[in-house]
Amino acid sequence: MLRTKIVSTGSYLPERILSNSELEKMVDTSDQWITERTGIKERRIASNDQAVSDLAFEASKLALERAQISAKDIELIIVATITGDMPVPSSGCILQDKLGAVNAAAFDINAACSGFIYGLSIANAYIKSGVYKRILLVGAEVLSKFTNWKDRNTCVLFGDGAGAVILEATDGDQGIYSVDIYSDGSFANLLNLPGGGSKNPPSPESLKNELHYLQMKGNETFKVAVKTLEQLVISTIEKNNIKSSDIKLLIPHQANLRIISATASRLGMDMSRVMVNLNKCGNTSAASIPIALDEAVTSGRIEKNDYILLEAFGGGLTWASALIKW
Ligand code: ACO
Repeated sequence: MLRTKIVSTGSYLPERILSNSELEKMVDTSDQWITERTGIKERRIASNDQAVSDLAFEASKLALERAQISAKDIELIIVATITGDMPVPSSGCILQDKLGAVNAAAFDINAACSGFIYGLSIANAYIKSGVYKRILLVGAEVLSKFTNWKDRNTCVLFGDGAGAVILEATDGDQGIYSVDIYSDGSFANLLNLPGGGSKNPPSPESLKNELHYLQMKGNETFKVAVKTLEQLVISTIEKNNIKSSDIKLLIPHQANLRIISATASRLGMDMSRVMVNLNKCGNTSAASIPIALDEAVTSGRIEKNDYILLEAFGGGLTWASALIKW
């Protein structure tokens, strides 16, 4: 049976670390509040001259090296991001040029924090239908440039980074077993970045009204996230006829430790079987799962034939899951 297999991973985090104690000096917050409410201790911040494609390039270079293939072997590049270099061209095209991936088509997708799993779904469909055999999928974000550093409700949450995977067609039994994506646009107002598009184009007015920053109704989003993700992970394991005890590692989107714990608890999974790195990275939106996956692989937490479960929830609203046999 033709399957889609992740053959290599790579990730990149900018050098600059922003700690909770530094944030205490910027807004009315405390290390204790941030740690207790989110689990985040520090996050990485891109330098002024780093855009999404620069972070994506570093992560992709590593994934290509580890797969021992040339950029010219890539047939398609998908970049999941909500903080692309610019509206046009896509960050995928800019990345294609930086990598020298001259034989690849390239585009971006926007599904906020669910973007990486949405990208997996697209890549899986292309590979299973025989259209492409080798795809580079990247989740990359520079959220710090769209963060209102005076708004304590959001500025303590986000971080910058990128993660990349190379996906290939395989006849073996390793690879993606299921990937499911969902949306509910009626919740669009819970998490948005209202300025800069055709509804509120950039103008002195949009700048004055601070429309170019990410805005979130955190508590309402939290409640929908917990409920939705609990149902999602149960339906994913039922659909695959496995038990949660069969899963070696849960790799959730890294938004909030309380959301992650609630999801793991619904599965009856001990936190030792859950990949958590938001303490170091914050919420990196579409980049969080591929960064966590890369850390899980390179630290030896996943071995051949292990089942891993990915899940995400984000702006849109969107949510998504994938079951993979490594
Ligand atoms: N420091 C101190 N106090 C704060 C801070 C802060 N940084 N931020 C908010 N508060 C205050 C609030 O003002 C409020 O005070 P009040 O009771 O006097 O009004 C109090 O803390 C509680 O605020 P809540 O918003 O109710 O806190 P909550 O426990 O919900 O935690 C959080 C907030 C961390 C944002 C949480 O709701 C959350 O994680 N939400 C989900 C995020 C998510 O999953 N988003 C989707 C993915 S992101 C993407 O797609 C880009």
